[in-house]
Amino acid sequence: MQKLLQEVIVLVKETGEFIRQESQKFDTDKIEYKGLNDLVSYVDKEAEKRLVEGLSAILPGSGFVAEEGTSNKRSDIYNWIIDPLDGTTNFTHGLPVFAVSVALMKRNELALGVVYEVNRDECFHAVKGGGAFLNHQPIKVSTIKTLDKSLLATGFPYYNFEQMNQYLQIINEFMQKTHGLRRMGSAAVDLVYTACGRFEGFFEYNLNAWDVAAGALIVREAGGFVSDFKGGEDFLFGREIIAGNAVQPEMLKVIQHLWNNSK
Ligand code: IPD
Ligand code: CA
Ligand code: CA
Repeated sequence: MQKLLQEVIVLVKETGEFIRQESQKFDTDKIEYKGLNDLVSYVDKEAEKRLVEGLSAILPGSGFVAEEGTSNKRSDIYNWIIDPLDGTTNFTHGLPVFAVSVALMKRNELALGVVYEVNRDECFHAVKGGGAFLNHQPIKVSTIKTLDKSLLATGFPYYNFEQMNQYLQIINEFMQKTHGLRRMGSAAVDLVYTACGRFEGFFEYNLNAWDVAAGALIVREAGGFVSDFKGGEDFLFGREIIAGNAVQPEMLKVIQHLWNNSK
């Protein structure tokens, strides 16, 4: 797995460099829409093509869950979960926060995760059971123990507004009970910033597996906790995630209470 990781890191960084170069000449005419406020461009698609080709060569026979649908091939053992460009809205508007996110599932378990924040040249990586790293240096979640000393991250709903009332009540509570809330625009970045202690926690709903797979493993390997909104394990395909350091259970309590009770 360590050898595989090194090869994945090289590929992910090369793909990130392609995205960075494109970001310097990107024209908003090139924005396409997959749905309401759901943006994509040739850059996402080309990046994914390069990742699928590269990962197929690194691990022949492996399958894919890839955001832009470059490959729908599935394998019984190894499947890659790929978000070629997490933070497309930032990318298309010239904001600097976006990342490449690649995870490997072995059967039903996350085995490896790499998140590369392109503009900071920060590569976060983890192999199950081996700890978490930023540019090969070990990282840990923050040691802050209470919500009132915490900085949290979230993502705003942008296409499904059915649960807005509950969501607004949750951010209302966190705004008053923490140092503040940030909306970076990349769930992968939110997660790895939690893993290295920049944020104490992150929560969002309506995400897909490719947004969170690599980052969730990296948080856990950095000593953090990850669950769905019920405290369970269904955060990959269940579209709800709460990740954090020691404050994660406190976040879960607030979210669980308001998610169920305010309609
Ligand atoms: C998005 C980002 C964003 C989150 C959205 C995601 P994309 O991914 O992770 O932070 O709030 O829900 O869809 O579309 O830029 O790959
Ligand atoms: Ca994404
Ligand atoms: Ca994406």
